[in-house]
Amino acid sequence: MHVLSDEGDGTPIPSTLFGIFFEEINHAGNGGLWSELVSNRGFEAGGQNTPSNIAPWTPVGSSSDVLLATERASPFARNPIALRVEVLCDSCQAPVGVANPGYWGMDVRAGDEYKIIFWLKAATSSSVVVSFVSSDSSVTLAQSDTINVDGTKGWTKQEIVLKAQATDHYAQLTITSKEKTVFWIDQVSAMPVETYKGHGFRKDLALMLEELKPRFIRFPGGCYVEGERLQNAWRWRASVGPWEERPGHLGDVWGYWSDDGIGYFEFLQLAEDLDALPIWVFNNGVSHTDEVATSLIGPFVQEALDGLEFALGSSSSKYGALRAKMGHPEPFNLKYVAIGNEDCGKQYYRDNYLQFYYAIKKYYPDISIVTNCDGSYRQLDHPADLYDFHIYTSASNLFNMNHQFDKISRNDGPKAFVSEYAVTGNDAGRGSLLAALAEAAFLIGIERNSDVVHMTSYAPLFVNNNDRRWNPDSIVYDSWQSYGTPSYWVQKFFKLSSGATLLPSNITGSTNVNSVVTSAIRSSDTNDPSIIVKAVNFGNKAVGLKLNIDGSFWNSANSTAVILTSNNVMDENSFSNPTKVVPKTVTMSGKNQMGITLPAYSFMAITVPSLGSNSRDSELHSDM
Ligand code: AHR
Repeated sequence: MHVLSDEGDGTPIPSTLFGIFFEEINHAGNGGLWSELVSNRGFEAGGQNTPSNIAPWTPVGSSSDVLLATERASPFARNPIALRVEVLCDSCQAPVGVANPGYWGMDVRAGDEYKIIFWLKAATSSSVVVSFVSSDSSVTLAQSDTINVDGTKGWTKQEIVLKAQATDHYAQLTITSKEKTVFWIDQVSAMPVETYKGHGFRKDLALMLEELKPRFIRFPGGCYVEGERLQNAWRWRASVGPWEERPGHLGDVWGYWSDDGIGYFEFLQLAEDLDALPIWVFNNGVSHTDEVATSLIGPFVQEALDGLEFALGSSSSKYGALRAKMGHPEPFNLKYVAIGNEDCGKQYYRDNYLQFYYAIKKYYPDISIVTNCDGSYRQLDHPADLYDFHIYTSASNLFNMNHQFDKISRNDGPKAFVSEYAVTGNDAGRGSLLAALAEAAFLIGIERNSDVVHMTSYAPLFVNNNDRRWNPDSIVYDSWQSYGTPSYWVQKFFKLSSGATLLPSNITGSTNVNSVVTSAIRSSDTNDPSIIVKAVNFGNKAVGLKLNIDGSFWNSANSTAVILTSNNVMDENSFSNPTKVVPKTVTMSGKNQMGITLPAYSFMAITVPSLGSNSRDSELHSDM
C-alpha cells in the first residue's frame, strides 16, 4: 500500500532538479539546434594550410568550366582561408561556381525567407548569383538578383534575403556566375529568418526543449570540453565576437568541425530564452590524452575568470563590454560552473581544481562549483558545492538504481548533480521503451532523494540521424524533421517536479512490489496545485492500483492520467513512426475511488486536482 498525505507537510524539491545537458556531439549544435544551414562556412575545416579540403563544398559545373582552390586570402585574421573560384567558360551555358549541401541537406520551404550573408571579392568587375537549388540541382528554389562586384573594391560584405518559391528539405546553396571571371568567397552564412525567439536556434528543436521546462542547461559538454587533445578542447574566447571572426575548431572527441556559430554567448542566451539557469562546464587543463601541470595552470584560471566576467561583469568591464557589444548589456544569470568533465582520476585534476576553486570563490563568491569527483560513496577531499555523477548502464541496473541515493549521507556536504544518465547498449538500441522505463524509475528515485540530489539531466540531448556518434539520445532529427525518443517523453513527465513538494509515500506488502516504483508530488503552481502520482511498472505483469482519497473534495472524474507504454518493450520511435511510443491519455471513471491498471512495462502519471488544505490522507493501493 502506498500512502499519500496531502496535509501540506511534504518535503520541498529543489527548484533546479530537472534540466538538460547540451553537448556538441552527434551534430547537436552544428547541423542541429543552431540554424546555420551552411557547413564549413569559412573553409577552415580542412585546416589552415593550403591547399586544403573544402568538403562538403562541391563544384557547380565540370572541371573544364570551374577551378576551385583554397587560399590564405581571407579578410579575417583568425580564419585565413578563403575560396578562390575561377570560372573558365565564357558566356557559360549554365551557372558555374560552387555549392554547399549544408548538414546532409538544407531545409528550404516555399514561402519561407532565408538570410544569406557572405564575403565577396573579384579580380575584375563581374557578377554572381546566389540560389537555393534542389538536392539533384534540377529545380531552382530561390534566386537572388545579379550581384555586381567591382573588381577594384576588395572584400565586400553581401547581405540578401531569399524567399523560396518551392520546397526541398535537402536543398543546396549555390554561388555561381556565367561569365569568365575569378572571384573569392568567405564566411558564407544562410539562416532561416525565423528562428526560436529570433536568436538563431532551430525552432522545432528549441520548442522541444521548452516543452521540458528545463530549470538549467549544462553546456557545452561532456568530452567535447576536454578534447582528445587539449589543443582541440572548446575554449570560450574563440567562440565569441562577430561570427565571421570566430576561428572554429575541430571537436576531436566526436570527430567533426565546428564553426562555433553556437558559442558561449549563444549558450547563455539559450538558457535565458528557456528560462533555465546556465551551467558552464570549462576545461581545467585536462584533456583525454594530455594535461597542464598545476604549476602552469595560471592562464587557464584567468581564462575561466574572464569567462565569468563575460557572463556577469558590468558592460563597462573588458569582457562585459564584449557581451554588451554582442547585444546583451545586462549580465546573464550564471550561478553555476563545473570544473572539467569526468577527470577526477587524472594526475593534475584535483590540484588544478583547487586553483580554479579558490580563484572563483575569491572574485565570484556566489558561484556554485561542481567537482568531477563522486562524493556519493565517500567524503570529498576538496571543497565543492556539488559533485558530478554520471551513469550509463543496462536497464535493469538503472531500474535498481532508483535506490542509489537512499542510503548516502545526509550531512551538509555537497549535493549530487546527476548531469549524465541513460540506459545504453542492447537494452536501449536507438531509444527503447525499456530504457525509458528504467530511467523513469531512476528519476523517481531521484525525486524521492532530492534532499541530496539537486540537479539531473539526461545525456546526450540531441542526435542528427546522419551522424550517430552516440546511442541512444533524447531528440532525433535530420535537416527538417524531429521526434522524441521514449526517454524524451519520460523527462516530460517530470516537468512539474522541480520546485514541487514531495509528499510522503511508501509501498508495502504486495507480490510484484519490486517491479513498481512510485512517487507523489504537489505541484508548486499556485494556480494549479495538483497532486501528481507517478508510477512505473518495470515488470512483465499488469499491476492493479487503487487510489482512494478520503473526503468530498475530490472526484476521480476530475483526474487525468497519461501513460507511456507500447506493444513491445523494445519499441522505438522513428521518422516513419515518430509517435509509436508517446504518452497517451487514460480515461478515468468513478467517483472518489479510482481503480487503475498499470500495464506491464508502463509509466503512468495521474494528476489529481488539489484535495484542499483540510483534506485527510489519500491512499494509493497496489493490488499486485
Ligand atoms: O554523453 C556522452 C559522453 O558521455 C559525454 O561526453 C561524457 O561526459 C560521457 O562520457
